[in-house]
Amino acid sequence: MLTQSDLKRQVAEAAVQFILPELTPETVLGVGTGSTVDLFIEAITPYKNRFLGAVSSSERSSARLAEAGIRVFDLNDVASMPWYVDGADEVDHGLNMIKGGGGALTREKIVASVAEQFLCIVDESKLVQTLGAYPLPIEVIPMAREVVSRRLAGLGGEPALREGFLTDNGCQIVDVAGLQITAPADLEGLINDIPGVVSCGLFALAGADVLLVSTQSGVRRLNL
Ligand code: A5P
Repeated sequence: MLTQSDLKRQVAEAAVQFILPELTPETVLGVGTGSTVDLFIEAITPYKNRFLGAVSSSERSSARLAEAGIRVFDLNDVASMPWYVDGADEVDHGLNMIKGGGGALTREKIVASVAEQFLCIVDESKLVQTLGAYPLPIEVIPMAREVVSRRLAGLGGEPALREGFLTDNGCQIVDVAGLQITAPADLEGLINDIPGVVSCGLFALAGADVLLVSTQSGVRRLNL
């Protein structure tokens, strides 16, 4: 029986094998944030001479990449990247995701938007029929925290401030429980439009392109 961390390692290694044939000496990869991505960084390190470097979505991943000897680029110096590789807190069969459990959602969304394709890597506990059991993280400008929370409650959620946490951008996170997200792209659009929201942890207007799911019997691939 594989543990959850074995499953994460299995999918991280599968992700490396999946993108390896496409790496060239000019390739800059987009790299996300989280425990699954930490394992992806570990798994790709032996191949670091096959690509140019990476843009990361957090200070945490940048530090890990640099430690592994992988060159870290500023996004302002990179115009394109073939793949963005990241985990998720939940993903549905339409490859819509909830992200931001680690608080890096805004930079994740920015880096992912530059990549041609988003490769999502999860263990099977993250694959759900309907998004929303995992509280939806929303990054907010601190002065707007209360007004945004009231608007989120008006959408049927139960917002709670992530106490004692500031994002890499110096903002706060409100986690919204109790949402049954049957129309993820519509909800993402609605939340994006609330003044004071920096970004919404729903990745549905632009979801994943390829999903690798780690199971007890190997890694399954789902394409959009
Ligand atoms: C970070 O902000 C998140 O979006 C992560 O991608 C997500 O929380 C997955 O994390 P794990 O790989 O640690 O489960």
